[in-house]
Amino acid sequence: MNFLELAAERYSVRKFSERSVEEDKLKLILEAVRLSPTAVNRQPQRVFVFRSAEALETARTLSPCLYGASTVLLFCYDKDTVWSHPTDHACSGEVDCAIACTHAMLEAWELGIGSCWVRFFEAEKVKAALQLPENLVPVALLPIGYAAEDAAPGPQHAASKPIDELVKML
Ligand SMILES: Cc1cc2nc3c(=O)[nH]c(=O)nc-3n(C[C@H](O)[C@H](O)[C@H](O)COP(=O)(O)O)c2cc1C
Repeated sequence: MNFLELAAERYSVRKFSERSVEEDKLKLILEAVRLSPTAVNRQPQRVFVFRSAEALETARTLSPCLYGASTVLLFCYDKDTVWSHPTDHACSGEVDCAIACTHAMLEAWELGIGSCWVRFFEAEKVKAALQLPENLVPVALLPIGYAAEDAAPGPQHAASKPIDELVKML
């Protein structure tokens, strides 16, 4: 499968089977996170992996969008490490996390593992539940796992806008 085939085939999995993600595959997904580009190579991405029964019980209190996944990643960025533009002060943390999370989604798909980007959580509740230090900012949850047999792409998956609406040639 080439990259565009993978990008077109990947969809947000919203129903996971009970089969858990193997350790070696999880390591590869986390390696894709490690290799992701970040502004000024500051590498502020920090990932928490919910795997134990106790951790997953906590995760389920944080979002209704975990879809039965038995592994959940939380992407944060470190405010003390992230690059911000010197004059307009725009912080690159969300972008850095978004790239890392996308790397994870695409590497997972290549390994036959589905995922769903989730922003339906309250950052303050996440911070409190995990007792995160003040410098960490939660950006995305990523439940990952093998799709259930009857999992299917949602209607929005096929609703990509035409290229002319998204791209303007100058
Ligand atoms: C920033 C962001 C936030 C999202 N938050 C959620 C979410 O909270 N719950 C959910 O089920 N899907 C969420 N999604 C998944 C999108 O709904 C999905 O990617 C989009 O509808 C396209 O469908 P596809 O991923 O199947 O191609 C999110 C995606 C992005 C990029």
